[in-house]
Amino acid sequence: MSVEIQVVDLSSLPSGETFLSEREQVFFNTLKLPKRQKEWLGGRFALKQLLSNRLKRSLREIEILPQENSGKPLVQVGGDSCSVAFSITHSNGYAVAAICDKARYIGIDLEKVQSRIERWKKDFFHPSELTEEGDEFLTALWTQKEAATKLLGTGLTIGSFDVRCIGGKVTFFNRARGVYEQLGSPEITLQTSALLPGFEFTVAIGK
Ligand SMILES: CC(C)(COP(=O)(O)OP(=O)(O)OC[C@H]1O[C@@H](n2cnc3c(N)ncnc32)[C@H](O)[C@@H]1OP(=O)(O)O)[C@@H](O)C(=O)NCCC(=O)NCCS
Repeated sequence: MSVEIQVVDLSSLPSGETFLSEREQVFFNTLKLPKRQKEWLGGRFALKQLLSNRLKRSLREIEILPQENSGKPLVQVGGDSCSVAFSITHSNGYAVAAICDKARYIGIDLEKVQSRIERWKKDFFHPSELTEEGDEFLTALWTQKEAATKLLGTGLTIGSFDVRCIGGKVTFFNRARGVYEQLGSPEITLQTSALLPGFEFTVAIGK
């Protein structure tokens, strides 16, 4: 199943005025921290480019605003909702967006590979997930978990032990399982790669 991915370097972003709608500009002005402003802009610029190519609409006609209760964005094109599955992530100077029009659900996550304290490992990973050691492995595992929670649309409001990624397959427990079933129990595949040097990146696709 083909997934289209757009990477944006946050150090060379055009001004938001050139591609944000009026409502997006109003939301952007509420963001206080420069880092958050850049990430938010970068994610939109990446996703708008993908959707603009796909739907043949201008960047400004595509509006990506967060939903009030979850932070998960909603896309509207010329005022109508858009059915293309999409996801956004940002990490260490990059924003990435992905779309897949053959999938019902998609979630992506990009993380820079770095050493973490032992406590992080114990707090976020179920022992059954820790089948290997090393920073690359743990970072990749983390991207799988986050991508899966974005596919569900919950983010990490669900317990991280309730999303278990083992051998490239994800299984849900407790509330996460309930959300997964509400989505119609889609068949989920996880595709993990480096995408950029020094990073791990996962696309979770639900058919
Ligand atoms: C979703 C979540 C796992 C993202 O993790 P992160 O490490 O902060 O960030 P990433 O860069 O990988 O991803 C951020 C993007 O995920 C997307 N996102 C946010 N909430 C999401 C959700 N519930 N489902 C799917 N995608 C979501 C957004 O596009 C966001 O970027 P944007 O705000 O610039 O549009 C994390 O934010 C989370 O757990 N959120 C829980 C819900 C929450 O706290 N919401 C508060 C706002 S109401």
